[in-house]
Amino acid sequence: MVEMVKNKTIWECSSCGFTQSKWGGSCLNCSSWNSFFEKIQISEKVKRFEAKKVGSIPMRLKDIEISSFKRLETNFAHLDRLFGGGIAKGSLVLIAGNPGIGKSTLLLQLSNNFALQNLKVLYISGEESLEQTTLRASRINASSENIFIYSETNFSSIKLQIDQLKPDILIVDSIQILYKPEISSSPGSIVQVRELTTEFMHIAKGYGITTFLIGHVTKTGDIAGPRVLEHIVDVVLDFEGEKQNGFRLLRSVKNRFGPTDDIAIFQMTEKGLNEISNPSKIFLEKRDKNLPGTIVASAMEGIRAILIEVQALIASSGFSMPTRKCSGLDQNRLALLLAVLEKKVRFQIKDMDVFVSIAGGMKIKEPAIDLAILLAIASSFSNRNLPSNTVVIGEVGLSGEIRSVTRIESRIKEAINMGFENIILPKQNLKEITDSIKQKINVWPVDTAEDAIDKLS
Ligand code: TYD
Ligand code: MG
Repeated sequence: MVEMVKNKTIWECSSCGFTQSKWGGSCLNCSSWNSFFEKIQISEKVKRFEAKKVGSIPMRLKDIEISSFKRLETNFAHLDRLFGGGIAKGSLVLIAGNPGIGKSTLLLQLSNNFALQNLKVLYISGEESLEQTTLRASRINASSENIFIYSETNFSSIKLQIDQLKPDILIVDSIQILYKPEISSSPGSIVQVRELTTEFMHIAKGYGITTFLIGHVTKTGDIAGPRVLEHIVDVVLDFEGEKQNGFRLLRSVKNRFGPTDDIAIFQMTEKGLNEISNPSKIFLEKRDKNLPGTIVASAMEGIRAILIEVQALIASSGFSMPTRKCSGLDQNRLALLLAVLEKKVRFQIKDMDVFVSIAGGMKIKEPAIDLAILLAIASSFSNRNLPSNTVVIGEVGLSGEIRSVTRIESRIKEAINMGFENIILPKQNLKEITDSIKQKINVWPVDTAEDAIDKLS
């Protein structure tokens, strides 16, 4: 199928696409530095993996049947929603994440769920031996006879097996370990990864084989190569989380067939990953309701509102340089909130040690949890607390004013669903609150940080 003649190597600038025959330090065209990477220019006679010629002649738009666009279900409800109502058949999906986060586990579980629907799954396990994969399979109870495991890294052999087996689902673990023998660069190089991904795209589209590629991310957060793959694939899901705690977030960063910026939350257990359908409940589970220094906040993760607990501990410092430590939030944000407390609310905390963390190991970037952090610190400092069952929402400005937040309605609804009775929110958001909401929860609008601190008793 692949007819090799002669491949020519050229160098391409990754920022502007300018090509030349030799490597160069800077680009003559756009002047960016260190942007050249090696690229194989495939000569005309080299054919790629021969795809079935579907739609090889122009068709009238109205004649194209949408019913042929099938969706496959994963058996994980939120994951299906993340894909936009199941995975579109024949799509090419990239799952990217740090080593050890659980990519192989997730895809083996997906393999099993597909296999139970009588779909044939071919799992290319390039990173681990057959025994290792089988061991994992026994942990998560995947034993369907529709799953085929193939331990191979040479693309030519893999291609042959795909041709013979004709699977419905193909899983590539991982794209960085495979190689095309006709390309001289080593596995994992930009050239290899890009060529392989293009081949898998042809396999997915031409044969309608739904294909999952696993990609490792480097320390800088790139998927090997400057995110070269992302342009080629249909869906990109980032798998995130701390290895220590069991929570894992699958975030959709690109989706040609559904929404982006949505998330699915999983928990790693002894028997694989479990989907968490009610994250707020899990994050608030071990909460001691009347402890000073703990405040419940509402954060948006994608399009979902999640309730989390912010914890602060303030203690007098034995040193001239007090400690300021936080986990799950931005250090600069903490510094700003401490400055507001010191200057605007006149809290004497400059000689105190301050520790703030988000319970459950979540990382929250959005400023809507500012007020909760500020109140948690104030609460620990003054040994007072909010009435139990209160949620706090609001961004804090430099002069201590409370600024409005986005999606106030989803946040309040989640608080009501979780049985909270009171909600502190920015006065600026008040006009968006309907009477029917006010009947379900006590709304306490605040204008300044001091207003909010007055609610501590
Ligand atoms: P793995 O899927 O191998 O991660 P990746 O493919 O992203 O590198 O699994 C990561 C970790 O998960 C590993 O340290 C073992 C752990 N694990 C469990 O806790 N429970 C399980 O059921 C399985 C299969 C793995
Ligand atoms: Mg793995």
